[in-house]
Amino acid sequence: MSKTLLITGGAGFIGSHVARLFVTKYPDYKIVNLDALTYAGNLENLKDIEQLPNYTFVKADITDASAVTALFEQYRFDGVIHLAAESHVDRSITDPNAFLQTNIMGTANLLNAARSVWKDDIGGKRFYHVSTDEVYGSLGETGYFTEATPYDPQSPYSASKASSDHIVRAYGNTYKLPFVITNCSNNYGPNQFPEKLLPLFINNIRHHKPLPVYGDGKYTRDWLYVIDHARAIDIVYHEGKNAETYNIGGFNEWQNIALVKLLCHKMDEKLGREAGTSEQLITYVKDRPGHDKRYAIDANKIKNELGWSPSVTFEEGLGLTIDWYLANQEWLDHVTSGDYQKYYEQQYT
Ligand code: NAD
Ligand code: TYD
Repeated sequence: MSKTLLITGGAGFIGSHVARLFVTKYPDYKIVNLDALTYAGNLENLKDIEQLPNYTFVKADITDASAVTALFEQYRFDGVIHLAAESHVDRSITDPNAFLQTNIMGTANLLNAARSVWKDDIGGKRFYHVSTDEVYGSLGETGYFTEATPYDPQSPYSASKASSDHIVRAYGNTYKLPFVITNCSNNYGPNQFPEKLLPLFINNIRHHKPLPVYGDGKYTRDWLYVIDHARAIDIVYHEGKNAETYNIGGFNEWQNIALVKLLCHKMDEKLGREAGTSEQLITYVKDRPGHDKRYAIDANKIKNELGWSPSVTFEEGLGLTIDWYLANQEWLDHVTSGDYQKYYEQQYT
C-alpha cells in the first residue's frame, strides 16, 4: 500500500542507510528526508538514491516548529521515522545546549505537528522514535539492559535522548499518538562521521596518526553493523506493536582496547603493513568526563517477537567496514576537509 513517510536525519550515518533501504525496498512509498545538514549531515551519503522518483530531500531544522508543521500540512505523512539528533557524547560535554534544543525540543516539535495533523485520523499512523541504549546508564561487569531497565542517563547526550523518549511515551499515553521506540547499541559501518571511534581510528591508521584511547581503554560497548540496525527499523516500523519499546543490539560486546587491537591487526593486513605496525599508534589519553563503563543490550525481545537478528558476524561487518573506508577515501577526505558541505550548494542551488 502506498504511504508517505517522513525520515528525519536521513543525511546522517544511520538515517542514510534507513532512507536507502526504504526508498529502494518500497518503491510505492514516497520518502521525504528532512535534515538540517549540520556538520553530521552529508548528502554525499545519498548520491545513489537522490534521483529516484519516490525520494525527496527537504533542508529544514526540527527546532523550527513552524517549518515542521508546514511540512506535515503539505505532505500529510502516514508515518515518521525520527533519527535527527545531535549524536556525539563528547560534543554534548562541550556544548550541551545544541543537544537539548534538537533532541528534546526538536522531537517535541515533530510530535506536536503529528498530533495536530493526525488528530482526526490516527488509523495506520505511526511515530517511530529512534533512540539509544545510553538512556539506561552504565552497567557493572555483569547484566544486560532490557526494555524494563530503569532510565539512568549520565551524559548530556543520553539525558537529552532519555527526555525525548519520555516525551514520546507521554504523547502516546496522553493524546493516544501511535508510537514505537527502539533503543540501539553502538553502530558501526559505512558513512559514519569520523569523530566516532571506528571511522576516526581507521582514518588515523591510514595516515599513521595516533589512536587516542580514553582512560585505560577498559570500557565496554556492544557493536551492531549499521545495515542490521536499518533492517531492524524496517521490521519494527512495519511489525512492531503500538506503544512498545524494543532494544536492538549485536550480541557483541567488546572492551575498547581489545576492539582497537583487532582493528589494528585487520588494518595491517588490508594495508599490507607489517603485523604490529598500527598497534604502535595506540596512545592512552585523558578520559572522557563521566565515561559510562559498560553498555550491553539484551535484544531477545525483538529477536523472539519480531524475528530480527543480526545478518553479519562482527568479523564480517568489521571487514566490510574497513573495506568501505579504504575504497571510499574521497568520502573520508571530503568529510575531514569539510568539502562535503559544498555538495548541497552544488546539487540544489
Ligand atoms: P548522525 O550525527 O550521524 O546524524 C544525525 C543527522 O541529524 C545529521 O544528518 C544531521 O544533519 C541531522 N540533524 C541534527 N540536528 C538536526 C536538526 N536540528 N534538524 C534536522 N536535522 C538535524 O547520527 P547517527 O549516528 O546517524 O544517529 C541517528 C539517530 O540514531 C540518533 O537519534 C541517535 O541518537 C540514534 N542512535 C545512534 C547510535 C549510534 O551508534 N550512532 C546508536 C543508537 C541510536
Ligand atoms: P563513541 O564512538 O564516541 O560512542 P559512545 O560514546 O556513544 O559509546 O565511543 C565508543 C567508545 O570509544 C567509548 O567508550 C569512548 C571510546 N573512545 C575512545 O577511547 N577514543 C576516542 O577517540 C573516541 C571517539 C571514543
